[in-house]
Amino acid sequence: MRVIVTGAAGFIGSSLTERLLALGHDVTGIDCLTDYYSPDMKRRNLELALAHPQFAFLSENLLDIDLSGLLTGCDVVFHQAAQAGVRASWGRDFETYTNNNVLATQRLLEAAKGSALKRFVFASSSSVYGDAEHIPVSEHEPLHPLSPYGVTKLAAENLCQLYHKNFGIPTVSLRYFTVFGPRQRPDMAFHKFIKALLRDEPIPVFGDGEQTRDFTFIDDAVEANILAMEKGGNGAIYNIGGGSRISLNRAIKLLESITGRKARRDQSSPQKGDVRHTWADTTRARTELSFVPRHDVREGLQKEYEWVNALYR
Ligand SMILES: NC(=O)c1ccc[n+]([C@@H]2O[C@H](COP(=O)([O-])OP(=O)(O)OC[C@H]3O[C@@H](n4cnc5c(N)ncnc54)[C@H](O)[C@@H]3O)[C@@H](O)[C@H]2O)c1
Repeated sequence: MRVIVTGAAGFIGSSLTERLLALGHDVTGIDCLTDYYSPDMKRRNLELALAHPQFAFLSENLLDIDLSGLLTGCDVVFHQAAQAGVRASWGRDFETYTNNNVLATQRLLEAAKGSALKRFVFASSSSVYGDAEHIPVSEHEPLHPLSPYGVTKLAAENLCQLYHKNFGIPTVSLRYFTVFGPRQRPDMAFHKFIKALLRDEPIPVFGDGEQTRDFTFIDDAVEANILAMEKGGNGAIYNIGGGSRISLNRAIKLLESITGRKARRDQSSPQKGDVRHTWADTTRARTELSFVPRHDVREGLQKEYEWVNALYR
């Protein structure tokens, strides 16, 4: 297959790209290496893919290029590019979120209208739920994002639905629940925690640390994309969770045991936009995609620790 991965230099996009190449697909990666975090880190994410003969990389902004030309002859789009991060989405930076999350998605979908795409997989987020009334949360729960970021991911997901219903674009949206593992973004909790432990710096904890997350190991998130390409229902939406829901306090304990170091905490009040608990009901993904998460938090944290340790050595 000829596939396009947007956000190919990012955490999830680069990992997905490598898996697609290993499966024998021709991959074109697009990424404009935004400076939300170090572009050098993103270049490093791309190193393996760039050495692969079936990989082409376009260092371009989705808002600037001729997307129709790009989609000609393409079978599958994995749309991972976005301005990620909940906390930075308030205030002046919201424009970056609307541009990279909403407008870029709309441009891609417009271009997909005239193409022969077999699948358009969109990276959505558990943040579309906000503080869900019932957990584990299933796909038909009400959607009340708590952050501007969540609002933009929901808008983009709604656009996917619209373009599916009106123009038959075979969209599938995957609502990821906190993805972690090697290459995790430096603004995400585990990356920050491990880095702080290694440097004997205080760990920033917002609130009492009893908030829980359904953590999803990167390889499981990548596998969900492959399954969505192969078996996803047209217009379908799936929760993608790792089945390892733990509190931040528990995660810190695990990291103490992995690193052999004692955490010093820098406790502050909960951040606006952060939800209290996330927990995915993955029945639909299990039933329709045969999605089964295979990596637990301890094993995944060990791998992330090894990667972060090598990164900052
Ligand atoms: N990491 C998670 O836990 C998580 C959870 C839920 C949803 N998501 C979604 O998954 C996707 C990937 O997340 P990630 O953690 O890998 O983030 P990331 O920031 O590592 O990767 C996103 C990439 O998109 C690129 N990009 C942004 N705007 C672009 C544009 N206009 N044109 C070209 N490239 C652009 C960035 O340079 C970046 O490399 C995002 O859509 C995010 O919203 C991630």
